[in-house]
Amino acid sequence: MRIGVLASGTGSNLQTIVDGCASRSIPAEVAVVICNIPGAKALQRAEAAGVPAVLLPHQDFPSREEFDRELVLTLQKHRVDLLCLAGFMRLIGPVLLQAFHNRILNIHPSLLPAFPGLHAVRQALAAGVRIAGCTVHVVDAGTDTGPILIQAAVPLLDSDTEETLAARILVQEHRCYLRAIALWAEGRVQIEGRRVRIAGALTRAERTLSSPELTD
Ligand code: GRF
Repeated sequence: MRIGVLASGTGSNLQTIVDGCASRSIPAEVAVVICNIPGAKALQRAEAAGVPAVLLPHQDFPSREEFDRELVLTLQKHRVDLLCLAGFMRLIGPVLLQAFHNRILNIHPSLLPAFPGLHAVRQALAAGVRIAGCTVHVVDAGTDTGPILIQAAVPLLDSDTEETLAARILVQEHRCYLRAIALWAEGRVQIEGRRVRIAGALTRAERTLSSPELTD
């Protein structure tokens, strides 16, 4: 399986995917990394890993459609099977969605459908939730609305700031993304409407996560 990654920023999720493929935790290879921000660390990471890296600044294109068309051409040129968004700060338009229907994954730092969009960790703190987390989902036409593949819960600490909570969530993002892509590459993921079924995956259905812990 050939993975394309779209990134705009630091690229720590990208690094996890690259490392996961190198160690064979993910039975796939990263075919291309596309970044829309000149000088982004994600680009440097791709180059350091010897992965084809392409800079496509979105402002060089007259419209989102034109930009998306170029993205699709680049992904097709590198024969990408699965597209992973890793901190890609652009909305995905119909051109890309159609070309990669149900073949685009995204990682988001909240337990969706709570707190979609920007500043998800800040939103969770402002709402006073006691359990935050992250979600890997299939991308559809909405913002962070597609079928959910994997989630991890991260309890808040009373001392948490946006930075400390985001850092703990990021650790789980890496674990979730690695696992989600591996399950995908193993052909174990099936999308049925809004539900995702995962063949042979273990789930601790009999245990509940609570914060504070339930002691009885
Ligand atoms: C992550 O929190 C991801 O969930 C969000 O943007 C951040 C990207 O981090 N979409 P990185 O660039 O992968 O380090």
